[in-house]
Order: sequence, then structure tokens, then C-alpha cells
Amino acid sequence: MMTRMTAIACATMMLAAPFAQAQDAEKGEKLFKRCTSCHMIGDGAKNRTGPVLTEVVGRVAGTYEGYKYGKSIVAAGEAGLVWDEDNLFEYIADPRGFLKEYLNDPKAKAKMTFRLKKEDQRRDVIAYLATFSPEPEEVEEEIEAEVEDGTEAAEDVSSE
Ligand code: HEC
Repeated sequence: MMTRMTAIACATMMLAAPFAQAQDAEKGEKLFKRCTSCHMIGDGAKNRTGPVLTEVVGRVAGTYEGYKYGKSIVAAGEAGLVWDEDNLFEYIADPRGFLKEYLNDPKAKAKMTFRLKKEDQRRDVIAYLATFSPEPEEVEEEIEAEVEDGTEAAEDVSSE
């Protein structure tokens, strides 16, 4: 029963999301120009000063192939850090502070020195990043279902 309700909630979110997202993502695309001195995204993107950001929402931190990450972000990925809208929101504002807190290590270092402070700008740029990841809402719903119902429900959702 819970699974069916989750599936409906999920479908509703997917219908609602493109409209809310399109607006923010458009602003985000302009804001992303601040990131392009170091990052590429989309078709033909290559690692530069920073890693490729295609499909970064839903990716384990510090794992884009061929990029030489700093030790701290790799450690965070190994400790289970998967990028989503919430943790990206914190990371982009203060990469080093975020990693220090996540790893509970005052010596943690970040190779990304850039910070985006304004909250609305962070939301917009993350909405833009999310357009390069397949249906992040669905992934989140599945994770939530797993937490709420235990593994049984998660299996149900993924087999639908
Ligand atoms: C001055 C260069 C620079 C700028 C500008 C910059 N970044 Fe980064 N970014 C980096 C570097 C270098 C890393 C690798 C971090 C590490 O290894 O600790 C990184 C890592 C990241 C990651 C983690 C990726 C992963 O694979 O785990 C995200 C997400 C990210 N940047 C987003 C952004 C966004 C969004 C912007 C613009 C608002 C931005 N960055 C601007 C240099 C930059």
C-alpha cells in the first residue's frame, strides 16, 4: 500500500517538477558561466581545473573518471557522500567548510576555491545541474521509500 502511495507521489512530483525547474534552470544556466572557468557540462565535456559536472546530481562525490581529486572529497565519497540538491547547496557555498564538517576533520581540504554565497543563485545553478541528471526526483523517492519501509518496499519500487 505504502509503495503504491509512494509511486503516486513520485508521478505527481515528476509532472510538477519540469515547470518549477525550467524557470530556475534558465537562470542557473547563466549563473553556470561562473563555473565554466573550471568546469564543463553536457556533450563532449572534458575535465579541466575541475571535474566534468554532467550527471553530478546522484553521483558519488569524487568519482568522475580521469579526474585527479583532492584526498578529502575522495574520502567523503568513500564514506558515502552522494551529491543531491541539499548537500550541493552546502558544498557550493563553502567546499572546504562542507568537507570539514562532513568528515568531522578540521584538516580537510578542498581543491575547489570558488564559493557561491547567495541562496537563490545556488538553488538556480543546482536546478541547472539537475537537468543533466536523469530524473533525480525518482531516485530520491526510492531512497526515501527504502528508509521508510525497509528493503522490501524498495524492491517493490524498483521492480515496477
Ligand atoms: C576556480 C575553479 C572552480 C570554479 C570557478 C568552480 N569549481 Fe567546482 N570544483 C573545482 C575543483 C578543483 C573541484 C575538485 C574538488 C576536489 O578535488 O576537492 C571542484 C569540484 C566540484 C564539485 C564536486 C564534483 C564531484 O565530482 O564530486 C561540484 C559539484 C562543483 N565543483 C560544482 C561547482 C559549481 C556549481 C560551480 C559554479 C557555481 C563551481 N563548481 C565553480 C573548481 C572550481
